[in-house]
Amino acid sequence: MEEDKGTVCVTGGTGFIASWLIMRLLEHGYYVRTTVRSNLEKKRDLSFLTHLQGASEKLQIFNADLSDPDSFEAAIDGCTSVLHVATPVDFEGREPEEVVNQRAISGTLGILKACLKSKTIKRVVYTSSASTVEFSGKNVDIVDENFWSDVDYIRKFIPVLGSYMISKTLTERAALQFAEEHGLDLVTLIPSFVVGPFICPKFPSSVRTSLAMVLGNKEEYAHLMNISMVHVDDVARAHIFLLEYPEAKGSDLEEIKGYKVPELSSRKLLDTGFKYKYGLDEMFDGAIQCCKEKGYL
Ligand SMILES: NC(=O)c1ccc[n+]([C@@H]2O[C@H](COP(=O)([O-])OP(=O)(O)OC[C@H]3O[C@@H](n4cnc5c(N)ncnc54)[C@H](OP(=O)(O)O)[C@@H]3O)[C@@H](O)[C@H]2O)c1
Repeated sequence: MEEDKGTVCVTGGTGFIASWLIMRLLEHGYYVRTTVRSNLEKKRDLSFLTHLQGASEKLQIFNADLSDPDSFEAAIDGCTSVLHVATPVDFEGREPEEVVNQRAISGTLGILKACLKSKTIKRVVYTSSASTVEFSGKNVDIVDENFWSDVDYIRKFIPVLGSYMISKTLTERAALQFAEEHGLDLVTLIPSFVVGPFICPKFPSSVRTSLAMVLGNKEEYAHLMNISMVHVDDVARAHIFLLEYPEAKGSDLEEIKGYKVPELSSRKLLDTGFKYKYGLDEMFDGAIQCCKEKGYL
């Protein structure tokens, strides 16, 4: 008989990382619930999720929006764990920083409150970002999960992209504090720049940026300076690993394959027994093949 691995709620199922993660969770035998934002103007085509192997029996899709923090309750109620991947992404600075922060933080706290209310959630994995540790303003060669980015430093030196980095930093801090105060088992994962193949219809922004030189997107060349990268499948594997490895606590950094300034240490994740599978060749081969298939290249 197949082992019952429980039901996992993945927020933001339409995204690059979350959709890949859902595919892998279904392959691993999990029941999965995912949340998507409803589009009032047009029904969204979610066939890339509903056609996944095992989806007809094991995948349920709910509507929820970080702007309405209580909207995640139905999706979370009765689950064993939550992988909170969704985030407001505003790299162009379309909205004021405070609006993005408010949505990310109150939405995340709404999710954590729903976890407590459910009484069934054993663990929450929150997908953070290397931007929460990279911009401490300290002149160091290596950073790990003990560092925090300084939001004033980000505001000063990274005015436009900074809004995303600030919201990730403040949201992770708020989530860890809430979890500590309420005795919720929450571990945060801190990926660097995520590259690789994708199943979502949207061209993922990190894949597009990683291929800026191939695509000739000159305005993105600067983002490739000193960049560190990880394969999307290693990110999915690390999320699942953290679900299945309860000893990992606090924050865990993802592997950084690339150049430094500062380099990120993956020691904590590796020390718990996680092993990376992919290198730069697989990251770019997978990304380029998908881009060709979908007509982006
Ligand atoms: N990709 C990277 O290089 C990278 C690196 C480090 C960390 N991360 C983190 O990984 C996570 C996923 O990133 P990604 O690259 O997969 O991004 P993505 O493809 O842009 O996915 C973002 C997801 O969040 C959802 N979302 C945005 N605003 C929302 C809201 N108000 N309410 C509910 N859902 C909302 C989006 O839904 P819609 O489809 O409706 O817009 C989408 O499903 C994020 O937390 C990000 O910070 C990513």
